Amino acid sequence: MNTYITGTTIKTLRESQKLTQAELAERIGVSSKTVSKWETAKGLPDISLLQPLAQALGISIIELMNGEYITNKNISANMLRCKFYVCPICGNVIHSMGDAVVSCCGVTLPALEAEDPDDLHGIIIEKVEDEHFISIPHPMTKQHFISFLAFVTTDRLQMVKFYPEGNAETRLQLRGRGYLYYYCNQHGLFKKKV
Ligand SMILES: [Fe+2]
Repeated sequence: MNTYITGTTIKTLRESQKLTQAELAERIGVSSKTVSKWETAKGLPDISLLQPLAQALGISIIELMNGEYITNKNISANMLRCKFYVCPICGNVIHSMGDAVVSCCGVTLPALEAEDPDDLHGIIIEKVEDEHFISIPHPMTKQHFISFLAFVTTDRLQMVKFYPEGNAETRLQLRGRGYLYYYCNQHGLFKKKV
């Protein structure tokens, strides 16, 4: 986190919640004059007030500090529009059905944008009995490897984790139409319609 909350953020969020300065002040146990000072850059809320302030404004502390908040009208809308987040520090993989503010290892993670397979990141799908054998012919070293594969349909997610010491291959039942996502730790997320 490289920025602290600003007065403009507090004012914008307060107004979007249709709260007066006095109403917000009462919710967090300060005076309306104090809220007024924050909003006009004559003071900043003590860090101990961030939690109650975020709660009063109906958002998370991360959103409060980033100056933006995310609302999903219907998070179950369509899994085909799901998002993946990967932490660049620990490699954690996070899946979300809708927009979200996702943080790991102190870093706010952007939703990954998937690209079409390129020459270095092709994917081979072969039918084997009632399943599919899926392989990604890609280096699998500690520095450069495919870290996961996911098959997403409108109502289902299947995810397979890969490790540098193994091959990027697995057997899956690809039932229905959907997307195969796979992630290279150096080149990002790829997506293939199946
Ligand atoms: Fe790669």
